[in-house]
Amino acid sequence: MGLKEKIEEIKAEMSQSKVKSHEELESFRIKYLGSKNILKELYQDLKNAPNELKKELGQSINGLKQESERAFEVFKNSIGADSSNKDKQAFDLSRPAEEMALGSRHPLAVVRNEIIEIFNRIGFTVSEGPEIEDDWHNFSALNFPPEHPARDMQDTFFIEKGENEMALRTHTSSVQVRVMENSQPPIRTISPGRVYRNEAISARAHCFFHQVQGLYIDKDVSFADLKQTLNYFAIEMFGEKAKIRMRPSYFPFTEPSAEVDVSCTLCNGDGCNVCKYTGWLEILGCGMVDPAVLDAAKIDSKVYSGFAFGMGVERIAQLKYRVGDLRLYSENDIRFLNQFKSAF
Ligand code: DAH
Repeated sequence: MGLKEKIEEIKAEMSQSKVKSHEELESFRIKYLGSKNILKELYQDLKNAPNELKKELGQSINGLKQESERAFEVFKNSIGADSSNKDKQAFDLSRPAEEMALGSRHPLAVVRNEIIEIFNRIGFTVSEGPEIEDDWHNFSALNFPPEHPARDMQDTFFIEKGENEMALRTHTSSVQVRVMENSQPPIRTISPGRVYRNEAISARAHCFFHQVQGLYIDKDVSFADLKQTLNYFAIEMFGEKAKIRMRPSYFPFTEPSAEVDVSCTLCNGDGCNVCKYTGWLEILGCGMVDPAVLDAAKIDSKVYSGFAFGMGVERIAQLKYRVGDLRLYSENDIRFLNQFKSAF
């Protein structure tokens, strides 16, 4: 076979090569580009070729060489980088593990759970109700008169006005009504949940916040029981030195009603800028359940009496953690949230 035919044969063979794996790519490289590649033999033969053909044959062999280099690149790219190397990198078992970012509880959840724990210990169960409420459970059954300002569009988010009035609940006292309707005394329950009011958002006010409502109904429940329960709560929540005081107040659903202050958690009652030099911080509203409220829920007010209280979770959290701006609780800023690590 002449040199020309040999060149043609190798060219044909090369153009038909199929390279699909790294092994095949390596065989291709050895055959056409390796130190003992078959083109070298052609260059040897070229020396013996007739002088007048040398130029043309030489160019053909050079062309074949270039073609094999190009084909090698094409095959290499189609297979991708050398995977044996890549595998080694992907499974470097000696590499130190990356630290897993653990989440933290939301500060309001921490405080809510702590409140629940404290009342659980003295026999209060947890009850919940809907955030969208009818007029009866949010207002009427709680003795709100028809013209009460809380029924105003300016204070409450109404979903439906008129006969079938529905609104976002403005307090968790609505859950107390549902519990009273669905069970008979003795009742001892707390109702945590989100409430809504039509307020402009600022550091001190928000259109939604969280409350825990408390209710205790039995025979012979007195104001002394209420005061002792809240005293226990204050000490468990704010520490042994905490004291409470009650100030007369008014709520439609309790009679008598009171507002409760706790001794300032910062200065222990000596006076500082947090308590505005009064030594006291307001934490909740409370009172003896109005007989009209018991009767509305079909609980006999001649046999039973009870107390109720309602506290803001944000307010308690503010006193515990000194978070001055209410907006921080719903902005989901990870730098804020990460500061609250708790077992609860
Ligand atoms: N529902 C009242 C509010 O949202 C809080 C409250 C006050 C609840 C006195 C009570 C209570 O049960 O007796 O402001």
